[in-house]
Amino acid sequence: MKIFEFAVPTKVYFGAGEVSKVEEHASSLGKKALLLAAKDTMRQLGFLDKVKGLLEKSGVEVVVSDDVSPNPRDVDIDRQAQLFLDEKCDFTVGLGGGSAMDTAKAVAFLAAQGGGTIRKYLAGGDNAGLENVKDAFPIMVITTTAGTGSEGTPWWVITNTENHEKPGTGNDSTVAKIAIVDPELMLTIPPSVTRGTGIDVLFHAMEAYIANIATPFTDLLAKEAIKLVLENLDTAINEGSNLEARSQMAWANTLAGIAIGEGTSGTVGIHAMGHSIGGQTDAPHGMTMASVALPYMRKTWSADTARYAEVTRMLGFGDESKSEAELAEYSAVALEKTLEKYGVNIKMRDLGVKEEMIEPMTDSVFKTMAGPLSCSLMELNREDIVALYKEAL
Ligand SMILES: [Fe+2]
Repeated sequence: MKIFEFAVPTKVYFGAGEVSKVEEHASSLGKKALLLAAKDTMRQLGFLDKVKGLLEKSGVEVVVSDDVSPNPRDVDIDRQAQLFLDEKCDFTVGLGGGSAMDTAKAVAFLAAQGGGTIRKYLAGGDNAGLENVKDAFPIMVITTTAGTGSEGTPWWVITNTENHEKPGTGNDSTVAKIAIVDPELMLTIPPSVTRGTGIDVLFHAMEAYIANIATPFTDLLAKEAIKLVLENLDTAINEGSNLEARSQMAWANTLAGIAIGEGTSGTVGIHAMGHSIGGQTDAPHGMTMASVALPYMRKTWSADTARYAEVTRMLGFGDESKSEAELAEYSAVALEKTLEKYGVNIKMRDLGVKEEMIEPMTDSVFKTMAGPLSCSLMELNREDIVALYKEAL
């Protein structure tokens, strides 16, 4: 059996109503918090006031910065980290989807380095290797979407506004100390966001399974997450107030997040290519992967027929009259049919990608997403990525 390791250091409070645990546990992280919340929505939904009130009841002083936008930018992190330092905060709280959680991690990290610019630590920056850095300040995340898995990973994805790249960065210190996953906060997510984030969960799980660093531990998480997405995403999209479907999707998201984070499997070329589209176009994260996934599966299935055949089976297309190789080859079709079930049939041009962006996107794959790309079961070179992007256009 394969040798592997994992650690799940985040204390997770999971379930309906668990946001109330903020009151009980926030003060263990410090006396003063910088609460970073998604722009407009968190205030409109009343979540901002609720969490601020719970933090204050815990005895924590709160500074609010509720201006986190989708796809957070380096300049935002720099400004918010300076605010953290000016206000002498002790920890960050990220309230919202992946953007707010990633912002909380990046701000806690940059503030611990004394501020400056986060670009220094992104791929291509002077200290992209995160050598000799100080540990991030403590981080609490409260997720309001079932996507990104950020509550279970050390990764923070920040857009570099100088070169339009969107790398993921992180180390052991940027794992949240406390994560709250409360599906009651997800009941009002609009169908389009539920769809996009749910598709992201599916990709995290599927990619963790077809990564060359998959382990028995991450396989377990990935398989369960895929099963739960297939059973519940449709209901969560069409019947948003269904608490049980929201809970199951939240659990699928947490499992898949742990698989690609603390479980030490990872995403593969699909996320590597998807991120580079996101850096160029600001397109929703889940859709960027959907646009490149089918060419990726068609290209790579032969690298491990047993694993790709299992993907086909997990997606519900396990025709036993077919051979293992036939099932593996069918994985692209199985995925296409699965995405279509959720109304997702998308090309890169639908996301605003133009042919001339393929070269810089390919550069970005190798410069900023070489890690996930190298987790692919098939080694892919520059020509391969260009060809896959052209096919996906
Ligand atoms: Fe993702």
